[in-house]
Amino acid sequence: MRSLAALILAAGRGERMNSDLVKVLHKAAGVPLIEHVLSSVRSAGIQKIAVVIGTQGNQLRSFLKGVTFVDQKVRLGTGHAVLQAKREFQNWSGDLLVLPADAPCIRFKTIKELVRTHRKSGGAATILTADILNPSGYGRILRRGEEVVGIREELDASDDERKITEINSGIYAFNARKLFKELVLIKQNSRKKEYYLTDVIEAFVGAGESVRAHKIEPEREILGVNTRKELSVAHQILNDQELERHSQAGVTILDPDQTVIAKGVKIGRDSVIHPFSWIEGDVIIGAKCEIGPFAKIRSGSRIADQVVVGSFVEVVRTKIGSKTLVKHLTYLGDAQIGKKVNVGAGTITANFNGKTKNKTVIRDGAFIGCDTILIAPVTVGKRVKTGAGAVLPAGQNIPAGKTVVGIPAKLVEKNKRKAK
Ligand code: UD1
Ligand code: CA
Repeated sequence: MRSLAALILAAGRGERMNSDLVKVLHKAAGVPLIEHVLSSVRSAGIQKIAVVIGTQGNQLRSFLKGVTFVDQKVRLGTGHAVLQAKREFQNWSGDLLVLPADAPCIRFKTIKELVRTHRKSGGAATILTADILNPSGYGRILRRGEEVVGIREELDASDDERKITEINSGIYAFNARKLFKELVLIKQNSRKKEYYLTDVIEAFVGAGESVRAHKIEPEREILGVNTRKELSVAHQILNDQELERHSQAGVTILDPDQTVIAKGVKIGRDSVIHPFSWIEGDVIIGAKCEIGPFAKIRSGSRIADQVVVGSFVEVVRTKIGSKTLVKHLTYLGDAQIGKKVNVGAGTITANFNGKTKNKTVIRDGAFIGCDTILIAPVTVGKRVKTGAGAVLPAGQNIPAGKTVVGIPAKLVEKNKRKAK
């Protein structure tokens, strides 16, 4: 098989975001835009990835791992951006995928299909296109039957060309060697004073090469983010894609518009996610769990089967054993909770002392009374009970089967309780 690499264009200024943060690091569905693109590229099986960065590139350099950076010192257009990667790819024996970093909704399956179409046709390039209702602002696809003979940018298009509804997504598969051979020859566009990557298509046609389109249905997948408004649209699209995946795998999501689940979260069958729940990346939830309404489950959490994380509960970097109930108004941070534990309403793990984060361990079968505060590090043994409002000071280790009450919490003697 031919080898495959990807070049992601991220040197744009993103001016319309009106932000100090480089555009492609803004988050949608809990993940920076460029991460979405990278993860789809990687899921499509592509390992060699280069990213073209511009003047704000340092923010990206420190953020992205496992990619090669290519500098574009002056922003002279998409063609110029790709040309900066010539040294990296001109002798690449296979295909080069080019994608913008600000189109985060592209799915890995679509990338694979684009590559498949490209390889079947054996042409110099295959363009990912879609018919859209309002094509203004996009480059239009000029065709002669199956062949694409050019891409016309809005500014340069005639009235007739503007009526074309098939648009260029900005995502392409190229034969790398042929791409750089023609790209060095393209001229600056006279209106915008930029080198257009799209001009390489006409160059291919002039050189007798074949160019094809891979047209896809849902235009939502190729949305580019230029404004904060479009960021929120992308957020919804990406979130919908994830929720759809979970639904198909047997998870009930009662109100998708009011539920956020970051990319890559794992949730077992027959779990129910109630509205207004927010689940970050790096979270695993088991089967037959009840989550929310109004639950926030943050990164590093591992929740076993048949657990309830109910209303107004926040969980972070915490492991919860099966059949444990955390039904209301609780914060669990850096905690390890056993099986069949009952965590009463208002329970708080005080995991941060101002300097360090510390661990709370609650073992199987414990019963944590309402409003208990556990000042970490603290360990609560199996079947321990805490009274309502108990405050467990840091460093305590409550032996199995005991009961503690009060502030600071003290052991209750068994015989005293019996005497009552
Ligand atoms: C481009 C396409 C257009 C297509 C549209 C899809 C060209 C000439 N036009 O237009 O046909 O319909 O995308 O969204 O390619 N970038 C750089 N360096 C530059 C210029 C751009 O890295 O010098 C990057 C940007 O960060 C962005 C991508 O290239 O990720 C696209 O650039 P942009 O200026 O947004 O192109 P469009 O005008 O949208
Ligand atoms: Ca754009």
